Amino acid sequence: MAKHTVTLIPGDGIGIETTSAMQEVVAAAGADIAWEVADAGAECAERCGTPLPEETIEAVKRNKVGIKGPTATPVGTGFRSVNVALRKTLDLYVCLRPVLSIPGAGGRYDDVDLVIVRENTEDLYAGVEFEEGSPEALELIRFVEEHEAGTIRPDSGISIKPISVTATRRIVDYAFDYALKQGRSKVTAAHKANIMKHSDGLFLREAREVAKGYEGRIAFDDRIIDAFCMNMVMDPSQFDVIVFPNLYGDIASDLAAGLVGGLGIAPGANIGADYAVFEAVHGSAPDIAGKNLANPTAEILSAAMMLDHLGEQATAERIRAAVRAVYARGEHLTGDIRRATASGEAPATCTEFTEALVRELERA
Ligand code: NAI
Repeated sequence: MAKHTVTLIPGDGIGIETTSAMQEVVAAAGADIAWEVADAGAECAERCGTPLPEETIEAVKRNKVGIKGPTATPVGTGFRSVNVALRKTLDLYVCLRPVLSIPGAGGRYDDVDLVIVRENTEDLYAGVEFEEGSPEALELIRFVEEHEAGTIRPDSGISIKPISVTATRRIVDYAFDYALKQGRSKVTAAHKANIMKHSDGLFLREAREVAKGYEGRIAFDDRIIDAFCMNMVMDPSQFDVIVFPNLYGDIASDLAAGLVGGLGIAPGANIGADYAVFEAVHGSAPDIAGKNLANPTAEILSAAMMLDHLGEQATAERIRAAVRAVYARGEHLTGDIRRATASGEAPATCTEFTEALVRELERA
């Protein structure tokens, strides 16, 4: 019997290619894992009528640990995001996204080393929405006006942005605790408390309260999200661990990925008290899906985070070292990295990159 059983959700688009590359690399690194494959995503919705079957949720609950490829969400209409549903159903309240320069990956800076901690269960992702013109939207508009809270145009669609004391305290506490355990020195809270006083204002107030408990051990500061974006692009070295409400964390993750070479190398994890589901930051990349062009590094580094979580740090480190070695050598890199490095060399396929990584692991 394998030492660990992990639920594997290949998902949509390039997920099929990147998760299969990830499995090969994890096996070459010597991890003893049995994969229990489960279905989710847009292609799953076509096959079985739902984008997130109950069996998939049960499989993650049973194994406690999962890893997924991206799942596509229709824009504007159609079913709600599988990711949002998984995070809410399993209360995976932390979205953890380390952002680390890999020499040779074409990043804008050589020395980025920061960690994004994004709240994963509320904010504008709560899914509380009212369609424009619906009786509920009109009633809500009337309510707002009756309470002299402002005016809303009658032809408005409405998304509600709840930010709670409970969720804010636990995500900020996670960020500080993570900083302590990982030997980091500062937590920054990003927000728009100057404009949204009762949601982002609450987030900042509670973050300051939680910070008091870590005084003298971990420093704390805060940034307004727009200034934060400029600061990140100009000098990411001023940040260490950054904690965000859900939406800003989502946007900042892609921005940060862009600083180190792009979405192809940005890993992540969704973590809760009972379960954890690991996944790359990127989406299903329909523009390159099925063409063997995807960069599987992000999924592979997400697997390294999963191995850390499973207590297999040595295997995780072997994978990270092999990734660094392949990038440093500069051969067999995929098209996204070739573009980021402005290299004239022919891009490798997803398969060729994976083979180079497996060779590196076998050599090591
Ligand atoms: P995307 O991340 O799929 O693609 C953005 C751009 O980055 C595209 O040009 C794509 O080719 C490129 N790219 C992304 N990952 C890459 C990789 N590993 N290697 C090489 N190039 C890569 O974002 P987009 O286009 O906004 O979303 C497509 C679909 O993915 C949507 O349905 C969206 O809802 C879903 N999505 C799912 C996520 C998840 O499951 N965690 C996260 C983000 C988006």
